[in-house]
This record gives sequence, structure tokens and C-alpha cells, in this order.
Amino acid sequence: MLTGDLKDLKKNQHKSAPVLWAGRLAEKPEAEAFAFQASITVDQRLAQEDIQGSRAHAAMLGKQGIIGADTAARLDAELARMAEELESGALAIDMAAEDIHSFIEGVLTERLGDVGRMVHAGRSRNDQVALDLRLYLKGVVPRLCAALVETIKTLLDQAETHTETIMPGYTHLQRAQPVTLGHHLVAWCAGLERDRGRFTDTFKRLDECPLGAGALAGTGLPLDREATAMALGFSGPTLNSMDSVADRDFALELAAACSIIMTHLSRFSEDVVIWASEEFKFINLAESWSTGSSIMPQKKNPDFAELIRGKSGRTTGNLVCLLTLLKGLPYSYDKDLQEDKEALFDSLDTVRSCLRMFRGMMASATFNTDRMEAACTGGFLEATDAAEYLVRKGLPFRTAHEVAALVVRDCVAAGQRSIAERALEELKTRSERFEADIYDAITPAACVKARNLPGGPAPEEVGRQIRVLRERLMRASP
Ligand code: ARG
Repeated sequence: MLTGDLKDLKKNQHKSAPVLWAGRLAEKPEAEAFAFQASITVDQRLAQEDIQGSRAHAAMLGKQGIIGADTAARLDAELARMAEELESGALAIDMAAEDIHSFIEGVLTERLGDVGRMVHAGRSRNDQVALDLRLYLKGVVPRLCAALVETIKTLLDQAETHTETIMPGYTHLQRAQPVTLGHHLVAWCAGLERDRGRFTDTFKRLDECPLGAGALAGTGLPLDREATAMALGFSGPTLNSMDSVADRDFALELAAACSIIMTHLSRFSEDVVIWASEEFKFINLAESWSTGSSIMPQKKNPDFAELIRGKSGRTTGNLVCLLTLLKGLPYSYDKDLQEDKEALFDSLDTVRSCLRMFRGMMASATFNTDRMEAACTGGFLEATDAAEYLVRKGLPFRTAHEVAALVVRDCVAAGQRSIAERALEELKTRSERFEADIYDAITPAACVKARNLPGGPAPEEVGRQIRVLRERLMRASP
């Protein structure tokens, strides 16, 4: 409804689902206003976690004698049935409900009457939603870690076949020094492996149970917070009840981890887009991982890489959204916090699909190794190695740098494309230390092979880097 006429809204009184707070307020918001403050469309994905939390809570209430043992048993059986029915589709989530917590409790009460009305003792939706979200994320993070690991493995497989594939390395997008495709791909993997570490870190702080914090101040009922925390697989209960309902650091940390992953994927995708251009032509994306044009018959576009690059905007936006949401919120719970889920879920979904798409695109890609190697000739990528050659012959590096620069100038003036095109006598006019062995020292392959320090592009060294990453991947994810 786009007209601002509130009288129109009155006619649309929200009737269907009962709300949990009906006792205090005689009137319910109009339909549009009710829908505005509802969150069921977003938090419906927490249904299973909500039931899981309620089962642990009800069992604990029974053990503590707050509700009868048979009441606890009936609640548990009905909640278990509801979980199955939701799974099979026999029970559909009512989109007219306010949120997933109201929906689950509503169905429970509809089916069990007063027994259903006992489940919420010592609990508030504030600790409930914090619990549901943490439980959900504890399930999602390992799946994202697995997607990361799969993507890294695919890239490492490609790197392994290309430890000897010479290509230009770039700084300022200008040809800089020869490296290998394997070296370049392992550079990507090093970033993704740190991303996995960030997920592992967030997991530690997710692993505390807020149940029992109530609305903000705990409860006078004799709950056993330790027991529910254990039953739900947490390392323990949260420390402070106000912090428990106000804290969304775990959401921020995850959103940040997601936006860093997407920033990585975006940069890799930019490399791919450049490599796929006619000017570079380093990479051949599989036809099934490319798209055509509706007008230009010849086109084969790297749309997947472009879309991944584009989608990184979302995760950056979601992180900023969450930071802005939290900034200035008075302690403890505020309804603003309901807005956390849409942004976070979008970041998680985006990362998952982009990791899978990037992996598929890269697994099926092939490389024009001849063109990559040929691109190492013509930009004087060997100039640094020529200077280092002179350093090995005893020249101070600064002098060697000047000599190599003058040689490059000589080449340019003579229309030559590489230092190797210059005769030894010509080289000697710039430094007596040039010998016949200079020509072998400055082939692209020799330049790469010589840079064999830890981290360098030499084929054996890149092989070692691949092994180190593979070993790290074997270590357990959360
Ligand atoms: N739907 C709410 C959320 O996502 C649940 C908590 C509501 N609590 C409240 N006092 N209104 O945050």
C-alpha cells in the first residue's frame, strides 16, 4: 500500500495469527504496520534451531521441577513432531505470524493447550533469538569452511599442474618480473586460507549459550543454564545476561569475514576478467562457464567472474549495515537488532554461492601457456635479474640497477625487445662485468628458477608452498 492514507489501513486489521503480547495491548497494529514490524519472512530459516532450543529449555524446566516431568515430555514429543513436519512440509510456516518464535509457540499451544503455554517460563524472545542465531551460525560456519576448503583445493590442483608455466607477474598492472601461474594461484590460496582462519576464530565466540538471560536480567526461576548450554552443544553459558541479548559481535565478525572473502574473490575475478580479454588471452573459460551476447554473435563473456566481483558490493554493504545498526544502540535489547539477520544471511548466502561458482569456473578453465610465456618477452621483465647478475659479479646493487636501466634504454633506442637481443660487446660498454653467461641468466625460466627463497616463484618452492597449504587444510575446521 503506497498511499499514505491511514484510514485505508484501519480496514485491514491484522486478524490471523495470535501475538505473544496480546495481554497488554487491546489493539493490534493494522495489517501493513504489523507486517512492517514482523520478521517471519527472514527468521523462518531459524525454525529448526528454535525448536531445538525449546526442547532443551523444556527438558531443563522439567528437570528443575519448574514444570511437571510429563509436561516436559509432552512438550518434547510435540516439538520433535513439529520439527519433522516442518522438514517434510506437513507443517507450513504461517507467514502471518510475527516471527518464528511466535509461530512455533503458537502451534505448540494450539496443539497442547496449557501445556504449550508452559514452554516460555524463564525465557524471552530476546535470549531466544540470540540462541537461535548462534545455533544456526554454528551449523553454517562449518559448511562455509568446507566450501572454502573445496575452492582452495581446486585452485591448488591447478597450481600444481602449472608450477613451471611461466607468466608475467604484475605490479601497477605493468609487467614486472616473470613468475609462474602456479605461484600466482597459490597467492590467491594463501588469502583464502586466512579466510578459513577467520571463520575458525568467529566460531570460538559463537560457542556460548545465551539461554537463561531472559529479556535482559535473567530470571528468578531456578533454571540450569549450564545444563541447557551443554545439551545444545555449547562450551558454556554466556557471562552476563544484558550482554547476552545486546551482543551481536559474532554477527559483525562473520559479516566481516564474509566481506573479506568476497573482496578476495572479487580481486581474483578481476584477474580472470583481464586474463580472458582478447588483449591478454591467458585463460580459456569453459563454454559452460561463460555467457554470450544477445546482439553480438561472437561474444563469450566472463559473466561469472564479473558477477562474483559485483556481488562483493553486497557483503561490504551488509557489514556496514550491521555496524551502523549497532552503533548508538542503548543497552540492552532493542528491536533494531531484528534487522541483523537479513544482512547477515545475505552475506552468508552470497559467500557460499560465490565460492561454489568461482570453484566451478576455475576447475574447468584452461590456460594459454604459450601466450603467457611469450608475454614475458618484450617488457624487460629480466632487468631486475640482470642487475642481480651484476651484484653477483661484485657490483653494488645501486650501480647495478643504474647499469641495467641504461641497458634497457639502449635496447629501447635500438628497437630491441629484450636485453638478450643485445650483443655482449654492446653490454660491455655499460659494464665490463657482463660475460657470455648473462644470456642464460636472464631467460624467463632462469629468472624464475633463481628466485627460490621461501615464498618465491621457483617451481620447487611453489611445490613446497602447495604442500604447506594442503597440510593446513587437513587440520580440522570447526
Ligand atoms: N523477532 C525479534 C528479533 O529478531 C525477536 C525478539 C523480539 N523481542 C522483542 N522484545 N520484541 O530480534
